[in-house]
Amino acid sequence: MKRAFESADILEQAVKRMNVASMAVIGIGFENERLMQCVVPQILTARMANLGRNNFRMTLIDINPNADVIVGKKTIYAIPLTPEQESWWQHYLHETQQQDRPVSQHEKELVFISEKDLQFLKEEKVRAAETPMIYQSKLKNGDISVIHADVAQGGWAENNSLDYIDCRSVLMHLPKEGQQLSLWHMSRSLRPEGFLVLNDRSPGSPNVLLNENGGWLGDTALKELDLTDVTRTFQLSDESTIHIVQKEEIPNPDVPS
Ligand SMILES: C[S@@+](CC[C@H](N)C(=O)[O-])C[C@H]1O[C@@H](n2cnc3c(N)ncnc32)[C@H](O)[C@@H]1O
Repeated sequence: MKRAFESADILEQAVKRMNVASMAVIGIGFENERLMQCVVPQILTARMANLGRNNFRMTLIDINPNADVIVGKKTIYAIPLTPEQESWWQHYLHETQQQDRPVSQHEKELVFISEKDLQFLKEEKVRAAETPMIYQSKLKNGDISVIHADVAQGGWAENNSLDYIDCRSVLMHLPKEGQQLSLWHMSRSLRPEGFLVLNDRSPGSPNVLLNENGGWLGDTALKELDLTDVTRTFQLSDESTIHIVQKEEIPNPDVPS
């Protein structure tokens, strides 16, 4: 959940600068504590609603063939085991303006989880809340749609169609060629002023993505991909760096904001 709230904070910065009418979340994420579900799109949608920006479309892209089932679940579950997990759950309840409740027996049967986690569920006290109403209604009216696809294969968005892409903790799972192809497809799908939000492993990690001094993708490669100005880099924590990539010029790309 922490990453989802980081993503919402970054989106909030973006909507203050530009009209985000069309966005994509690539790698929608199924894990919330031990349960398989999708929190990033829910929290982004709730944040947009809280900012008074309900007029947007969001495409959810994931390689997992169960994506549409998980995206469509109306209930979210948590098993807060640590104070930090408890605090993120409280954030969720606050952002979506609701209270939690115990999970019902009926819901337990609907949860999409592994045998191992099912066992865990029986042992632990599970909390439940609804997914945000605005998220549910946008799924229903088609403003939020799901595409089962591999980001590296393309075909999941028209060229120049998106204002904003959130793709966090996905590229690091792909081999170098897959990362390059993915970036190319993301770049093509962005409008000229669009933003791409990527995260990275900590500096020095062999999988670091966008680091001239050790990463696989330096300025030259980015230029070849038409990603001309990288970027603002935000070091959120020891493990988490966010890169905001804008397709066209950023006035002073070397100065983190
Ligand atoms: C670690 S989760 C990250 C989810 C979310 N972005 C977040 O920050 O919490 C990785 C997600 O990416 C998806 N994924 C992995 N490889 C992918 C690919 N090649 N194309 C699309 N989605 C992919 C997985 O199915 C999973 O939902």
